[in-house]
Parts: sequence; C-alpha cells; structure tokens
Amino acid sequence: MCGIVAYTGFREARPILMEGLKRMEYRGYDSAGIAILNGGLHVSKAPGRISVLESQIKPDEMRGTCGMAHTRWATHGAPTQINAHPHVDASGRIAMVHNGIIENYQSLRTYLKDKGVEFKSETDSEVLVQLIAHFYDGDLEVAVRTALRDVRGTYGIAVICADEPDKIVAARKGSPLIIGVGDDEYVVASDAAAIIQHTTSVIYLSDGEMAVVWNDGFRTMTLDNVPVTKQVTDLEISLTDIELGGYPHFMLKEIMEQPQAAADCMRGRVNIDEGRIHLGGLANLARELVRTKRIIITACGTAWHAGLVAEYLFEDLARIQTEVEYASEFRYRNPIITDQNVVIAISQSGETADTLAALREAQEKGAIALGVVNVVGSTIARETDAGVYLHVGPEIGVASTKAYMGQLLVLTMIALQIGRRRHLSQPDLQMYLDALHAIPEKIERITKQSDAILEVAEKFKDANNWLYLGRGYNYPTALEGALKLKEISYIHAEGMPSAEMKHGPIALITKDMPVVFIATKNSQYEKVISNIEEVRARKGRVIAVATEGDTEIADMAEHVFYVPDVPEPLQPLVSIVPLQLLAYHAAVLRGCDVDKPRNLAKSVTVE
Ligand code: AGP
Repeated sequence: MCGIVAYTGFREARPILMEGLKRMEYRGYDSAGIAILNGGLHVSKAPGRISVLESQIKPDEMRGTCGMAHTRWATHGAPTQINAHPHVDASGRIAMVHNGIIENYQSLRTYLKDKGVEFKSETDSEVLVQLIAHFYDGDLEVAVRTALRDVRGTYGIAVICADEPDKIVAARKGSPLIIGVGDDEYVVASDAAAIIQHTTSVIYLSDGEMAVVWNDGFRTMTLDNVPVTKQVTDLEISLTDIELGGYPHFMLKEIMEQPQAAADCMRGRVNIDEGRIHLGGLANLARELVRTKRIIITACGTAWHAGLVAEYLFEDLARIQTEVEYASEFRYRNPIITDQNVVIAISQSGETADTLAALREAQEKGAIALGVVNVVGSTIARETDAGVYLHVGPEIGVASTKAYMGQLLVLTMIALQIGRRRHLSQPDLQMYLDALHAIPEKIERITKQSDAILEVAEKFKDANNWLYLGRGYNYPTALEGALKLKEISYIHAEGMPSAEMKHGPIALITKDMPVVFIATKNSQYEKVISNIEEVRARKGRVIAVATEGDTEIADMAEHVFYVPDVPEPLQPLVSIVPLQLLAYHAAVLRGCDVDKPRNLAKSVTVE
C-alpha cells in the first residue's frame, strides 16, 4: 500500500531515494518524506505527490550516503505533513518508514504515554518508532527485535539511527520487502521498481525475517535472531518495462501492450503444432488437478473478475465444480475445504493481503494451493504449492489491464489442459488452441479503434451513472468494464447480469443513462437483444460491444464497438479491450490522474 525505500552505500542517498520513490508512487501517493543520516537525522516530509516533497528539499541539507524515504497510502491519520513518514522518535535520533498496519497501536501508545512519551502524529506507525526508542540501548538491531515482539499487525519497515551511521535495520511481516544487493551498496525496498536501476541481484525477505544492512555487507535472521541464509536471485524485469515509453499514461501503454503481452503469456505454453497446452509450473500437480472434484478461486477486485470468468471456463471446458470467493470474505468465513480441493489464488501483485490470507486459510485446511500471479518472487508466488506466472511484464497503472488479460489467458490454458485430460476431444482442443493463437492479432485490431472510442467517451463523459450488462461469459466483462470506469474516472457505474436488470436496476434507466451491453454473438445473444429492447423502451442510451459483421445491432445501439469473432469461452479476452479504452478516455477527458486514481493504490497490502 505504501512504498518504502532505504539506501546505504558510497553514493549520495537523496537522488537514489527520490528516484526510488517515484518508481513506487503507484503504491500510494497521498504524502511522502525522506530522512538522511549525516551526523544527525535530516528529515523532510510533505502532503501530496512526491513532486511536492522534491520541491521543498534543500539539496545542501540532505547530503549523506545513508537514508530512507516513503510514499504513503494513509490508513491511520489523514495525509498531512505530520502524519507522513519517516517517523522520528522523541530524541530525534531514530527514524523509521513503515508499510502495513500496527493493529495494537492504541494499547502500545497508552503504555508509552504512561512512560512519558509524547506523540506528534495520529498514526499507528509512529508508535513503533517510539517503542524501538523505548528499548534502544546502543544496539538498533536489538531494539527493533525487542519492539517487534510486542507488535500485532503487518509491517515492512526500515529503521536508521544517528548513533549507528550507514546501518539500516529492516523487518517484514505481511508486507513485501526486497533487498537489492549491489557492489558495496544496498537498496531496501517494498518493490523491485525502486531497485532495478541499481542492481538486478535481490533477496526477498519472508514473513518473520529481519535484515541488518550496512554499506559493505548484510546479515539476515529471524525475529528470534536465528541466522537465515537467503538466496540471491535475479530480477526478470528491465528498466524500460517500468518507463512510459512515449505514452502519456502507463494505463494506455499497458492497454496497447496487450497484443504483445498476450503473445508473451502464451509463448511456450500454447503449442498449436503439437496440439497441446504446456504449463510447466503445474506439472507436479497435474494428476491432482485432473482428479479434483472442486476448485475454489479466491481473489480481489479485477483479479476476482478474472476468477469469475474462470468459473465459467472450468465448469464448461473442464467440467469441474468451481466457486469464486472474495478473499476478504473467504478468509473469515471458516469455509468448508478438504485436502481433495484445489484453491487458486489470483493476484497481479502477489501481495494483496486478503488474497494471501485466504490462500493461507485454504492451505491450513489442507487444500492444494495454486497461484496465478504476475510479480515474480512475490509472497503469493512463493507460498503457493505451484502456479503460473502471467509473463505480461510489470503493470504500473493502478487500473489493471494487461494483467487482467494475462489472468484470463492463464485460466483459459489451465481449463483447457485439465479439460483435455477429462473429456475435451483433441479436435475441440485444437480449435481452441488455434483461436488462442490468433488472439494477439485480434486484440491489436481492437486497439486501433481508440480514436473512435474517444469520440464516444467525449459524448458521455459527463453522465454520472452508467450500467454495464452482459450474460454468461460476458457477465464478468460487464463487472470489469464498470470497475475500470469507476476507479479511474470516478463515475458511478454498476455491472450486472443483463437479466438481473428487470429485478430493480431498470428503475434507474433514463434518457441520460449510458447502458453498455456486451452483446457478442454467442449462445445467449438473443436474450441480450431482448434486454437491449427493454432499455431502449425506456430511452436508455445503448452502447454495445458486438461481433464484427453484426449489422442488426447497429440499428439498436447508439454506438457499437466491434470485436473480432472468437469462440464463446474466449470472448472475455476481446470484449474487455474497448471497455478499457472507453474508461481510459473518459477519465482523461474528465481531467483525472489515470495512473494514480484518488484513494487507490496498486497493491493492497493491508486489510
Ligand atoms: C484493479 O484495476 C484494481 N487495481 C484492483 O481491483 C486490483 O485488481 C485488486 O486490488 C487486486 O490486486 P492484485 O491482483 O494485485 O491482487
């Protein structure tokens, strides 16, 4: 949720920390701060974007080769200068940046207040640095370890102390933390995006682990001070992956990257010559997958919508009973799960707290746990029994687009692989493989409609209530289309199965309401046409996503976005693209910050 970065080495820390913050700004962007060690602690904090902080820093003051910085997504205390991180203890000697939530901060605060500690901010985080200072007796590592024993909640922290130059103490529980290993320099960060510019060699801290890092070495151990040997791995992303590359926004870049991302996602996995699907990451569990009687999918947000498509795919193509669960509900519902069940956790970031907890709950109950994840080395990827990476490259825009595409493709490949081993005939599989192979080119064709879609966005950008409707495989597309519009343009939009409209929402329809139908040619096309008639009868403004060549619908809808014809189970892959562009253009026209929508963050690492 927040982004933390710390540096110790031989170079000036400030530019490295500010650059790292900017690359992590999608994690949270309501306030920011920096602290540099140089004889003492030099701290600067500001509400708002990192550019505000940058404009107030006096470079001469902030000199030094060790420091830390933070970009915030507020959980406790409004996004103000005082509540921004780094938080400094009462003596002004210890500073800390924190990503996560200290759940028992109230009782710790009372305990420290009784000891005479005065607090400056409303945050839960400040309590931890004050607690560390309370236990400080000349050894920062010991003080941090002692303080963390009393803490309940989640954290990724970095701590520095004016009395111990060049040293960073870091620890994680529930929030991601990576250490970039350079030549006599180290970068500790929430995200590889802040490290990639300096080194591709990294260490992933696991839950319950700490690290002590100084300018020419590091040690890793558990919170109980048991040494841990960590493997140094190589990052698979490159700097260009996380740069705009000439686009005005990462979201547009990532929408336009979908043809290539789809090809990368299927490379080495969809083999049309051999007529088979190859998913190396699932090879060890192939037998269990084919034999399982129940699949439970758990996820949040857009990933949950991909899960909903997978429910249709697994029941239709693999004939396996499948349920889709909101991770935040599933984790606390004491669900009925057995060791015969397979649980699939879908997550772009691989760090979403609710999805991680739902996964652990399922594993606790003996289920086989699979991951469908984009970020390599992320916690969900490391904790699942097996899984499939999306291989769509880093996704920076907060609104997920190419990762959603990758999730749909991976789930389709899993369903086809299991289906072929259950009842799907080889000719049917071959038909789907050929259709998948053509998907990148078909998406490419849809992205060419961007300007035409811009015109429709121009026309409806001031409508403040929209409905998105679809049936069958296109019902989740309606939910996802509505979510894209909501999260970046702040227009209220609701997605639902078309038939549900008659049971209430149809009352909302007026001549000012855009109603987006996903009406591609498939087994439920006629039904959708009837629903369109119901909306037209009430003067609703119909916008349709339809199959190329469908002239009938052109007479019924004010605007039609045509998509190439594909088999019904693959229609979510094409029908979402025009809706991504519609939301993007509407948001830009409304002057919204598309890549960093208000109140959101790319990875939700708190409950
Ligand atoms: C989607 O555009 C949003 N960013 C959000 O709903 C997201 O899908 C959700 O937070 C899940 O994130 P994850 O895939 O990283 O777990």
